[in-house]
Amino acid sequence: MAGTDEFDHQPPTTNHQTPIMNLWGGRFTGETDRHFAAFNASFRFDRRLIFADLQACAVHARALGRAGVLPEADVESITQGLQKISEWVADPAFLDRPEFSSTEDVHSFIESRLVELIGQVGYKLHTGRSRNDQVAVATRLFLRGEIERLDQVIRDTQIALIELAEKYESDPLPGYTHLQKAQPILFAHFLLAYFQMLARDRARLADVKKRVNVLPLGSGALAGTNFPVDREWMAAELGFEGVTRNSLDAVSDRDYIIEFVSFAATTMMHLSRLAEDLIIYSTQEFGFIKLGDAISTGSSLMPQKKNPDSLELIRGKSARVFGHQMAMLTMAKGLPLAYNKDLQEDKETLFDTIDTLSDSLRVTATVLRNIELNTERARNAAIRDYTNATDLADYLVRNGLEFRKAHEVIGRIVVFAIEQGKELDELTLAECQQFSPLFTEDLFEAISLSSSLAGKKQTGGTAPEQVKKELARARVELGI
Ligand code: ARG
Repeated sequence: MAGTDEFDHQPPTTNHQTPIMNLWGGRFTGETDRHFAAFNASFRFDRRLIFADLQACAVHARALGRAGVLPEADVESITQGLQKISEWVADPAFLDRPEFSSTEDVHSFIESRLVELIGQVGYKLHTGRSRNDQVAVATRLFLRGEIERLDQVIRDTQIALIELAEKYESDPLPGYTHLQKAQPILFAHFLLAYFQMLARDRARLADVKKRVNVLPLGSGALAGTNFPVDREWMAAELGFEGVTRNSLDAVSDRDYIIEFVSFAATTMMHLSRLAEDLIIYSTQEFGFIKLGDAISTGSSLMPQKKNPDSLELIRGKSARVFGHQMAMLTMAKGLPLAYNKDLQEDKETLFDTIDTLSDSLRVTATVLRNIELNTERARNAAIRDYTNATDLADYLVRNGLEFRKAHEVIGRIVVFAIEQGKELDELTLAECQQFSPLFTEDLFEAISLSSSLAGKKQTGGTAPEQVKKELARARVELGI
């Protein structure tokens, strides 16, 4: 999150400072306290909205022209001025110029530059508009663009999952419940579980976008505007799908940010789970996965170490996004209608959520492109520790025994096998028959790894033929 240096390092008020330029001069005779001005200012972070704001400003100016509020000549010079500012700020260093350091926010920045460029006409741009609807439209426009970009970043992570799954299409892995070995699965099946999570995340994001993509401009400060701007026209110009229906709601609604952060928190939770799985699988104790040098770090002290810092950071960063979700809800919950300055706190929260999610997704994809499956070790682990016990119970069921009874019989066989220090397939037929007369020689085939996997061939199961189908389907879904 952006630091508060500017705030911290503001010297106390002196007469030698450049005067603070406010947008609200008339009502005030006294000067703003410098310390408070820095506290109040949002330019150091809301400058990120500048292109969205400029875009909305230009449409607002034209709407005023169409409504006959501004003569065409004014609209023309405002439009050209805004265009010039866009060119200036294309160089990010421009915004860092020391003369802008006391700028209150991105909105006042635009107005000041516009007036410098085109003179008093620049002051007409704010006709029929408030910063309350201005900030809402800029944030929505900005977020819509970020949503489209993030969707592609998630998609790329899905591609990395598919490619890794295809590389190890038929290699087994132990499946776990309670982190105790349960049944054999395919490594590709494990990866496709995360593909599904990310697919739901993208669906959630698309849903959030619908509610982001609504125009609040024309709501004024809270009550609407006295000038006959055509809101539907502005919406169409800015690519919004509709207009807000209540001005009070439009200027104070931040549901679209709360929903977005909630989507992001869910996605981060998924990335964190994947990170946790891969961290566990890369330990010496499990040893299923080898992490490439590109995504690992060493120890300053212990020469033998190779640590999964990339994955640990993804897991760790999920916490801050969860925090942002709570911050947004808490910030909004006590606000009387309509706009309150508390709402300015939405921005650093939103920006950090976007950046953290985007970076975490990118690193996840990079990790996936830099890991190897230790196929031998994973296979051996998949067949050990009685992972085929359920298949043996199912064998008895197929031979006529009720499942609960079969479960009991196999449970007793497992105890016997543990005592003998043997796996189930190392027992003899005679030993098995002591527990049930339903066993015949074909039991060994039924509990082989390939039978165990091939049996799970219903939709969603881990059978190789099924996983192959899902891989193909995943490719179709992504259009790759
Ligand atoms: N920087 C403000 C925000 O982010 C802009 C709106 C200011 N409106 C106001 N009435 N003070 O919310």
